[in-house]
Amino acid sequence: MENILVCLAWPYANGDQHVGHITGAYLPGDIFARFQRLKGNRVVMVSGSDSHGTPIVVRADKEGTTPRAVFEHFHERFLQTWQTLGITFDLYTHTDTENHHAIAQQMFTRLQDNGYLYTAKQKQIFSIKQQKFLPDRLVEGTCPICGYDKARGDQCDTCGNLLDAVQLINPRNRNVENDTLEIRESEHYFWDLPKSSAEITQYLSDKDSYWRPQVLNFARNFAKDLNPRAFTRDLTWGIPIPVPNNEGKCIYVWWEAVLGYLTATVEWAKVLGQPEAWKDFWYAQAADDSVKIYNFIGKDNILFHTVLWQGILFGMRQLVGADAPRPGDAPIFKQPYDVPANQYLNFGGQKFSKSLGVSLEALDLAQKYGADAVRFYLTKVMPEQRDAEWSFDGFVQANNGELLAKWGNLAQRTLSQIWKNFGGAIPQPGELTEADRDLITASERAFETVGEALNGVRLREALGLVLELATAANVYIDQQAPWKMIKTGDEGRARAGTQLYVAARVIDSLSVLFSPFVPNVCEAVRAQLGYDTPLFGKQYTELQHEATRDHLVLRYDGAGAAGRWQPSQLAPGQRLGGEPKGLVAKIEVK
Ligand code: MF3
Ligand code: ZN
Repeated sequence: MENILVCLAWPYANGDQHVGHITGAYLPGDIFARFQRLKGNRVVMVSGSDSHGTPIVVRADKEGTTPRAVFEHFHERFLQTWQTLGITFDLYTHTDTENHHAIAQQMFTRLQDNGYLYTAKQKQIFSIKQQKFLPDRLVEGTCPICGYDKARGDQCDTCGNLLDAVQLINPRNRNVENDTLEIRESEHYFWDLPKSSAEITQYLSDKDSYWRPQVLNFARNFAKDLNPRAFTRDLTWGIPIPVPNNEGKCIYVWWEAVLGYLTATVEWAKVLGQPEAWKDFWYAQAADDSVKIYNFIGKDNILFHTVLWQGILFGMRQLVGADAPRPGDAPIFKQPYDVPANQYLNFGGQKFSKSLGVSLEALDLAQKYGADAVRFYLTKVMPEQRDAEWSFDGFVQANNGELLAKWGNLAQRTLSQIWKNFGGAIPQPGELTEADRDLITASERAFETVGEALNGVRLREALGLVLELATAANVYIDQQAPWKMIKTGDEGRARAGTQLYVAARVIDSLSVLFSPFVPNVCEAVRAQLGYDTPLFGKQYTELQHEATRDHLVLRYDGAGAAGRWQPSQLAPGQRLGGEPKGLVAKIEVK
């Protein structure tokens, strides 16, 4: 058994999740976590809402409300989105918990004690009209690296490089027209990242055989020449630095947000009533490959998760006090094993969505068409290697032409025959023909090939392999045509029973193989097959109590899945769970 920590990017709580976010990080993380649970591994999947930082403040200002109100609104929307789409977090929390604040302040102290922080004057952009320093994100200008003329002060979305607002050519205030901007100085804490250069280079040195090449190259290029980075910001909405007489200085939102992977694991352990359990992941020996941490993110977050987060972990080394390593633990933090970042999913322009009256908000789509329809298509176009394009036609085609035609209908037409002609019980097979054996063998082999692809986070390939098996099963049933065979006397009826047994067994296997991708359809198929325990557990929201304030989180009850990643053991005589019904709704296009 392996210990697998599945970490998903912390979304800014300043807007709804669109399909690009979902296919970028949340769906791949969930598919991977479900697969690992089926394998019988111990899986913990964590994330939470990124509640601090400029994006939240900007939205609050625009709406004349408080940052807290903005973040709480979207936090609840996110909980609903994960519930609806079936993104099964063991814990989905947020960055405004007491637990997170406390550990973030400890991070600051640890880095300071270990000699990674120093103070210095920082040049920042000052707005004359607003009479204040502007957060980097609110400054726009030309990227000094690639020349893109709408680069943000913190990062250029065209070349992906991290920037400092003062580097921008022709900087402008994004919110105020004709503002005059000046460069002024303010004193800040800086993070001496170059001190971790050797460790980071070493960390990136052995990843060639399994990291996505574009992720690794980007990280290595960046790691070649590391600079100190500002560690604090002039902001009131955030986590104050634990230094007296420093009002208005907060930890830069990114440094505490990435720390969320650790703090959420700590919170998960507390909630579980095993407060030390998080150490099984984070204080595992570096060489212990039965413990693996994965980070699922979109490409705009690569540098934070392949270099900078590693730098924080190397710099902190460990927590102290009650959170120090136990005897026998590694005295330094475990680093992420893989960071399977996705590229972008693009949309065919806003015109497309308006003209069809279809919003690209994930929650909306899932409520309209069902979670599995969305999950299925978004896996098919998942931008694992390069950018991909959302298309409504493609979405409809994937649902109607594949999910429904190849999987839903396969189950329904096979099980209906058993219901009608064999009294609703799996028929006793006679001797198997070569065609029977070939299909069964293919279904058994799929657990290895699909499993290997899933384990390597090649999810499109994995789904393709499952679809190949489903296609083979459809061809089999078409060629064998048990509905004809059954009309040809006693021998024909016996042969039809064998055919339906073979098909049901392969459907049973497919219900596991497809389940990380389209769990709802698969649970329904399994109920029709007569199983009464579901493959996966349930997720639910829960109010957590803290000294300062209560907060709502999403939790998962992981019972059920363990050890189910296995070829069908379907026994003849097993009774179906009721009259088979259609399981995938057709999308009608007007
Ligand atoms: N909030 C950031 C975004 O939405 C992502 C943060 S991932 C984290 O782009 F790990 F840094 F939190
Ligand atoms: Zn650029």
